Amino acid sequence: MPLQIALYCPEAKDAQRWANALRTALPDATIEPWPTVLPNADHAIVWSPSQAFLDAHANVKTIFNLGAGVDALLKLRLPAGVPVVRLEDAGMGVLMVQYVCHAVLRHYRMLDTLSADMQAGRWKPRFPRPMQDFPVGIMGLGVLGQQVARGLQSFGFPLTGWSNSPKNIEGVRCFAGAAQLQDFLAATRVLVCLLPLTPDTQDIINQDSLSRLMAPGYVINVARGAHVVDEDLVAMIDSGQLAGATLDVFRTEPLPTNHVFRTRPQITLTPHISAQTQMGDTIAQICRKILSLQRGEPITGVVDMTKAY
Ligand code: NAP
Ligand code: GLV
Repeated sequence: MPLQIALYCPEAKDAQRWANALRTALPDATIEPWPTVLPNADHAIVWSPSQAFLDAHANVKTIFNLGAGVDALLKLRLPAGVPVVRLEDAGMGVLMVQYVCHAVLRHYRMLDTLSADMQAGRWKPRFPRPMQDFPVGIMGLGVLGQQVARGLQSFGFPLTGWSNSPKNIEGVRCFAGAAQLQDFLAATRVLVCLLPLTPDTQDIINQDSLSRLMAPGYVINVARGAHVVDEDLVAMIDSGQLAGATLDVFRTEPLPTNHVFRTRPQITLTPHISAQTQMGDTIAQICRKILSLQRGEPITGVVDMTKAY
């Protein structure tokens, strides 16, 4: 029986592109995008699937997620016992490094202020603070967080990092677990969020955590919008305790046109593009894993349902 793969992408034109690319990579397989149902599909490959899709493909052996974060998928009723496999880097790492380094450097070098001065007719050189007073802290030292740490290291920033399990990363002052969160925040000025969204990490960037940063702090959120309590972030900016933020992800996407974030010039906004799924790398990674499973070999990137990431 040839391999069967059921595909779900929210946009029909994306689904066709992904289906065609998967057919090229796996020419002997049957690959059908929703709403076609393959009741005996071996695997599902999905981004933001509907419950109807999951219910119609309850017999799959594996669900491959077309992204690193599985928070949206885990909100649905998944077929019992079926492993969920997330993307591991798959070309997103380098994009995330570029985005975060750009955001940190733009803030550190005061490029927006300098540019505003020039636009207003002023010639006013400003000098950044000493780098030792500018530690960048990465919440989440996983696949993407560790790459971002390496990227920032090359610019000379002191680095802190926070994860669930203890880590030993050269050049990064590592903290772990809830017990060390406050120490991590106190040693951090620019906070970069690269956590998965789970019950433990939702709302983690709030008035309390922000007030513990070295002041004035700065926030770069490239993980999920629900990590941030929006009103707290805005209040901290308005009070001057926070210099500003770069936000790529939001509780509601697209970000509503009347959202308060759009009214604060200290907030730089982008539409969830910091590290978009890369089709070529993604298909190569998923196909490698499918072939490993066919040979009975273990694969990485399987979501631990007890941790929700
Ligand atoms: P990952 O490899 O699973 O890394 C997650 C990291 O977070 C790990 O270091 C983990 O600790 C840590 N962590 C999880 N829960 C924690 C907790 N309660 N307390 C402290 N640390 C905790 O994930 P990834 O591939 O780096 O991706 C991270 C997230 O980025 C994704 O979940 C996704 O939401 C987001 N993302 C966004 C975009 C975008 O375009 N904006 C693109 C890709 C990904 P351990 O190492 O100890 O497990
Ligand atoms: C994108 O946000 C992802 O989780 O890959």
